[in-house]
Amino acid sequence: MPRLSSLPPSVRLAAACFAALVLGFALLAQVNLWHQVSGGEPPGPDKVLTRYHGDPDRTRLDDVLDGEAHPSFDDPKNMWQYLGGERWDDETTQANRKRITDWVRAGAPEDGFAALKPILTGMGLCGDCHVAGGIKEDLSFETYAAVQPLTKPGGKYPLSTLLISAHNHLFGFAVLALLLSVGVCFTGLHNRLRMLLILGASGGAALDIAGWFLTRTWGSPFHLMVVSGGGLFGLCTTAMALAVLHEAILGRAGKVDAP
Ligand code: HEC
Repeated sequence: MPRLSSLPPSVRLAAACFAALVLGFALLAQVNLWHQVSGGEPPGPDKVLTRYHGDPDRTRLDDVLDGEAHPSFDDPKNMWQYLGGERWDDETTQANRKRITDWVRAGAPEDGFAALKPILTGMGLCGDCHVAGGIKEDLSFETYAAVQPLTKPGGKYPLSTLLISAHNHLFGFAVLALLLSVGVCFTGLHNRLRMLLILGASGGAALDIAGWFLTRTWGSPFHLMVVSGGGLFGLCTTAMALAVLHEAILGRAGKVDAP
């Protein structure tokens, strides 16, 4: 097997650029995890569990209107900022929030819905987005039937969104694992270590995605499969990218590896 370092400079350059971009991707994936998935907090297994399986003690409305769970204005799940006040401890914010959460607490009776419509569909409030023609018209608040599911605790991750996400992610993971796996075969890494990294990357991706569906359906302990599968994939791909980068830039030409 030839070593990457003994291949023409253009091949080394291509491999080095790819590996460097992969490392940037790995870094961005971590930032994204903190920012999107866990709303600016360190991501932990519990977040994974409630994301896919739902929280048995909280409704989706409770969650997005909770300023302690979502303090940042940039948090995509921060909806309390649209309650009419400027800050979390603002009187208007708290009063409007209480009207909604009291209604949810009372079992969200249909005859209480009309009284909340001015908030849920009002201009300058939720109605800026959650109505027909708004950016969130797929989650319109115009009818009781549409709002009612958000008042039930333990809402699972929507299956249609999960399927699209799984389909896109699996393809991306597969291509990334393949390219790095081929690349690492042209480095000086010990053969057994290479095999472990190759298996770890593909196996990790498979565990991660299978874990999404198992967690959605059965909850704990399958969320640990998501965390360990994702971690394994990240670890193996980062290690392979570093090995390829090292070989491409620092490797000295003329070395030939045992097959
Ligand atoms: C500026 C537009 C905008 C306004 C105003 C707005 N929302 Fe949203 N809302 C969104 C977007 C975008 C999402 C999807 C966020 C995501 O999941 O990434 C969303 C999602 C939600 C969800 C679903 C969250 C989940 O768990 O998937 C709820 C519940 C919600 N909003 C409630 C409200 C309430 C209540 C108000 C008014 C107090 C409100 N929103 C005001 C844009 C808005």
